[in-house]
Amino acid sequence: MKTYLVTGGAGFIGSNFILYMMKKYGDSIKIINVDKLTYAGNLENLKEVEHRDNYKFMKVDICDKDKILSIFNTYDIDIVIHFAAESHVDRSIKNPEVFVNTNVLGTLNLLTGAKQAWETEDGFKKGKKFVQVSTDEVYGELEDDEGFFYETTPLDPHSPYSASKTSADLLVKSYVDTFHFPANITRCSNNYGPYQFPEKLIPLMINNALNGKKLPVYGRGLNVRDWLYVDDHCKAIDIVAEGGPIGEVYNVGGHNEKKNIEIVNMVIDSLLEMLPEEDPRRKSISHDLITYVEDRKGHDFRYAIAPDKIKSDLGWEPETPFAKGIKLTIAWYLENMDWMERITKGEYQNYYKEMYRED
Ligand code: NAD
Ligand code: TYD
Repeated sequence: MKTYLVTGGAGFIGSNFILYMMKKYGDSIKIINVDKLTYAGNLENLKEVEHRDNYKFMKVDICDKDKILSIFNTYDIDIVIHFAAESHVDRSIKNPEVFVNTNVLGTLNLLTGAKQAWETEDGFKKGKKFVQVSTDEVYGELEDDEGFFYETTPLDPHSPYSASKTSADLLVKSYVDTFHFPANITRCSNNYGPYQFPEKLIPLMINNALNGKKLPVYGRGLNVRDWLYVDDHCKAIDIVAEGGPIGEVYNVGGHNEKKNIEIVNMVIDSLLEMLPEEDPRRKSISHDLITYVEDRKGHDFRYAIAPDKIKSDLGWEPETPFAKGIKLTIAWYLENMDWMERITKGEYQNYYKEMYRED
């Protein structure tokens, strides 16, 4: 039985990944979820699996080196899927320090733990793998409508978030180059789907629209992101963990480029299409809610991923067209408004007021 150490498993992609893996492999795998439960971590996402004998949650900060080493010494970990991170660009602009601690030093602790547990006299035990879940933002930005990010595109991060993820990727690379450490790096585009925290574009717009609040679009809304349905991403990570040769980097993208304003318009139109006629929230939802606000500092213009390598080498392709994925996502939020209400109480309101300068 393979044992997975999933870091950040209570966050958006991590919890989707744990649910995906449990559904796919059932009792034939074991998952240990290590998460500090920051504002972005929510154990409620994992209710479906929390009572399983092959699932274990540990509240641990990956910056706590002793605890990380002791986990590797206590459990025979086969595969590390490393999601744990501070993940929001806007927060990194305001408070970069925690990004360096978690994203860089936390990653080094995991590499150190895995290396010492997996090392043999002539290399590493068989069947071990460390997957660093990274981002297309390490490539910087595409300045116009042409071209794509390839795995060979030079690293050129711009935000403190992407700089910290690049630093972590380089540490992973250094372990591969120095020790032939069994790692892969995946770099995906913007994910969307159930359980995403409403600081990110799509859930923020859904939540605001349902509450009749303004929809804050940065700049002129013309920046482009390449959207990937989270389940497709989870599948890619599993495929890379299983089949990626040591040291390979894989871009994971949905071929789903959209301007931000198109996304916001689609959210409004889909909500109006999906909400029943008698739902009182319909009255306040309209395109008039769109409000253009001050642009993000250093706002990367366009991200677009070429996922050719993962397709040709490992046979992965995105399966969820955006028109379907956005409906699935909105349907999930409509069915889980109590989830949204619980996480937008308290600290979120302070964040929102400060970020969007609302009274
Ligand atoms: P998220 O912010 O929703 O979740 C992050 C999780 O990490 C949370 O559960 C949080 O509690 C945990 N965490 C934070 N600091 C920790 C620490 N010090 N120790 C232990 N746990 C800690 O993030 P996400 O959107 O699920 O992203 C997961 C990974 O995927 C991140 O590494 C991110 O860089 C990468 N990624 C995300 C996207 C995206 O669109 N969401 C795109 C590309 C790459
Ligand atoms: P985000 O979801 O924060 O992801 P990232 O910055 O990692 O791509 O933002 C996606 C895009 O949406 C980005 O171009 C910034 C923009 N955006 C807004 O216009 N308004 C908002 O309130 C937010 C959160 C993002």
